[in-house]
This record gives sequence, structure tokens and C-alpha cells, in this order.
Amino acid sequence: MSIPVIKETMTLANARAMAADAPGFLLGTARRAGPVFRAGVGPLTLTVVAEPEALQQVLQKQAKTWGRGTAVDAIRPLLGNGLPLSDPPLWLTQRRTMQPSFHRAHGPGWVHSMRDVTAASLSALASGQELVTRQLMMTIARDVIVRAMFSQSLGADTRAFDDAFHEVEAYVSTSMVPGKLPLWVPTPQHLRFKRATTFLHRHIQQVIEERRRLEQPPADLLTLLVQARDPETGEAMSDPQLRDEVMNIFFAGHETTANLMTWAVYLLSQHPAVLERAEAEVRAVLGDRTPEPEDLPKLTWLGSIIRETLRLYPPAWLFARQSFDTQQLQGEAIAKGQVVLVVPYITHRFPSLWKDPDTFDPSRFEKDQSTDAAAWKYAYLPFGAGPHVCIGNHFALLEAATVLAMLMQRGRLEVLRPHEVRAKMGATLFVGNGLPARFVAR
Ligand code: HEM
Repeated sequence: MSIPVIKETMTLANARAMAADAPGFLLGTARRAGPVFRAGVGPLTLTVVAEPEALQQVLQKQAKTWGRGTAVDAIRPLLGNGLPLSDPPLWLTQRRTMQPSFHRAHGPGWVHSMRDVTAASLSALASGQELVTRQLMMTIARDVIVRAMFSQSLGADTRAFDDAFHEVEAYVSTSMVPGKLPLWVPTPQHLRFKRATTFLHRHIQQVIEERRRLEQPPADLLTLLVQARDPETGEAMSDPQLRDEVMNIFFAGHETTANLMTWAVYLLSQHPAVLERAEAEVRAVLGDRTPEPEDLPKLTWLGSIIRETLRLYPPAWLFARQSFDTQQLQGEAIAKGQVVLVVPYITHRFPSLWKDPDTFDPSRFEKDQSTDAAAWKYAYLPFGAGPHVCIGNHFALLEAATVLAMLMQRGRLEVLRPHEVRAKMGATLFVGNGLPARFVAR
């Protein structure tokens, strides 16, 4: 099988379609051309990989010849050499040093901070109040990761942190646009991005220095990372490396989860029977109790809802790999240095892999109703696959279950103007209008 090439003459039309609706354009093209294709888009030729065997080759079997390389250079000034941007040998050292800090055994401690943060946010909501769901979820997810990492809230720094975060997010979401000026050109946006990055780096550096001075540090993710040692060499992380990792965990670990929870609220609002069954499950397992860590695995229907939400709207809907060598992919020559786009959004909605691929049906994830595709690892990869698989996947699933269950205990978010909802892509796949909703208490 060779890679179909979408005609070069389409480049301008493709560029327009991509700018208007990138996920829709790529999915539509894949459904016509096949799940591995090349398309001219403006001055670029994109190579898209969304077929399970090809994905397994790129992400796992040939992982040594595929890496991040220069494909992620646009965000390096912000995120440095953290795990999600690095390649071996640095990546390998960092992954084996950091892996124990994300072990499932830390789950109960994470759930305790998740439920405290969620309770504080939800108790501030008045019945009948209108809000923007994505903002609520971003605040909860930001506070969850800050609490889990630093055992504290941002306190007086919250506003400055949010401003800096919005600034870097605005830059990151446009950084992949073809024809974008390089960062050294002093445009107002670039200057604001650099100021925001300096602020975040300094702040985190300061927290690390303070933490190193403490004789009895709190039991949190930062302490685990400060104390982490490479099991092979016994080396600890340097301060600059630790700062990069903390920045990456902060960024990789909150917008993604916030988007997942926002999409779940949207999908549940459109499927009342699914929501009612989830509310009944929460009542049966929890009643009015605050969730304990051991309750969460019992919320199996909610778990299926979360998995199905991640299938339809994977927050990491696209990520890149660069070829470190000349090699073959599905019978086609790949040049050294070539970038391919891995697009879970396409794989998760591909008709030959999933029955009724555009339909929200959490029951496809119930154990006794497994589809062919659900058993097939490379057909479902919201957290990636192979050696780079998301290190925070357990954290994210615990957080989504805790927040959504507690929301169901308190009431409902009634989505306003659902017909306006569109998937938008920035650094992640999010609800375009933020999902305005009315909170109605139980
Ligand atoms: C719904 C939430 C999340 C989604 C959809 C998600 C998705 C992903 C994906 C697809 C990758 C692989 C990228 C690649 O192969 O290049 C990844 C890697 C990563 N994620 Fe997540 N993630 C989520 C939550 C989190 C959380 C909560 C954390 C930390 C607390 C986290 C930290 C990371 C890190 C550090 C990596 C790099 C792993 C490596 O390269 O070894 N993520 N994530």
C-alpha cells in the first residue's frame, strides 16, 4: 500500500479549509484518501499518519528512528528540554528518573487534592448562575496541578500567573501557522510572549530554590521530582532541567484535562439518558459523600463516558514526529528530517475501525461490549502510545472522574446555545465558544 497524495493543485483550497477547520479538513481528507496521506497545504506538504499499523511502526516498533527533533522547536523557548519535547539520550534518562513520581501508588494523595480543589470551586457556584464551562474547568485543572505539584495554591500570584499563561497560550496556538514570523522578530506578540515566559521561568525557579532549602519538604510532586534519582546512574536533576520538567507538567497537565471535562459536559448535555444513568451511578456509589480514591473505580459508567469523550474529542488531537533516518512507511520512502503528523482525531473516527464513528456511545467501552477496535491499542490513543505514552494519564483520568462525579452530586450544567458548539484547535482541541452554561443546583 502506498501513501495517496492529494493533488498539489489543491494547495490553496486546502490551506483555506485547514485554516477554517483543521480537524474537519484532515478527517474529511482521510475518509476520502485513506488514513495515511500527503496533502499540499499552502507552501507545505503534510504527511498524515492515522492508521493503526503505521502508527505502531512510528510510535513503537521504529520509535528509535522517529522523534520530536525540530518538529517542536516553536515551543522550545517556553518548554525547553522537558520530557514532551526531548529525544534520547536525555529523554530516556528523564523518563526513567521521573516515572516513579507518577506511579499509581500516588493516586490517593492526588485524589485528595483534586476533591478539595473541586469542592472549593463548585461551592462558589450559585444555582441559576451563568458561566463559561471551559473557564471553570481550566481554573479547577490549574488549581489541581498546582496543589498536587506544590502543596499550595498560587495565592496572590494567581492573576499574574493567569495573565502569563494566556499570553503564552496565545503564542503557542499560532506558533504552527505556516508563514509565522520567527520569534526573534520583535513583534508586540513576541515581546509579550517572552516577558510571560521569563515571568513563569523565574517564578518556578524560585519555588524550586525554596524547596531545596526545606528540611522537611511537603509530600508532593515537586518533592518527589527534587528527590528523584536516575536508577542507573544515581544522578539527580539539575535545577534548569527540573524547571523545564515542572513547566511541562504544568502545561501538559491542565489544559488537556480541562478540555476533556468541558467536552464531557457538552456531550452529556446532548445525551440526557447517558447523563441520568451516570447521575444514578454516582448516587448509588457515593450518595452525598465526598469521593474517596477507592470509590472511583466503581464509577464504571462514568469511566466509559470519559473514554468515549476522549475518543470523539482527544485534547491532544495531533502531534508530530520527525524521521531521524531515511526509511519506509507503508511502502513509501520517508526522507531523513521529514515530519509526519500523528492524528488521533482521525484514527478515533475512522469508519473501518469504529462502528458509527461520529456517534457518542459510551457503551462501546463497557467490558462485555468491546468493539474490534477497542481491543486494538493503536486504534485508540488519546494518551499517545509506545515509549512516549503520557506519563500523567492516570492522573488525568482520576481528575476527570473526581470533578465530573462531584459536579453531578451538586447539580447540572445546562448548556446554552449548544448549536453554536464547534471544535477549535489551538495547542489542544477545545470547545470554540468555551461552552456557556447555567448551573442548576440539585
Ligand atoms: C486528558 C488529559 C491528557 C491528555 C489527552 C494527554 C495526552 C498526551 C499525549 C498524546 C502524549 C504523547 C505525546 C507524544 O507522543 O509526543 C502525552 C505526553 C505527556 N503528557 Fe500527557 N495528556 C494528558 C494529561 C497529562 C497530565 C495530567 C500530565 C501531568 C500531570 C501529563 C504529562 C505528560 C508528559 C510529561 C508527557 C511526555 C511523556 C514522554 O514523552 O515521555 N499529561 N500526553
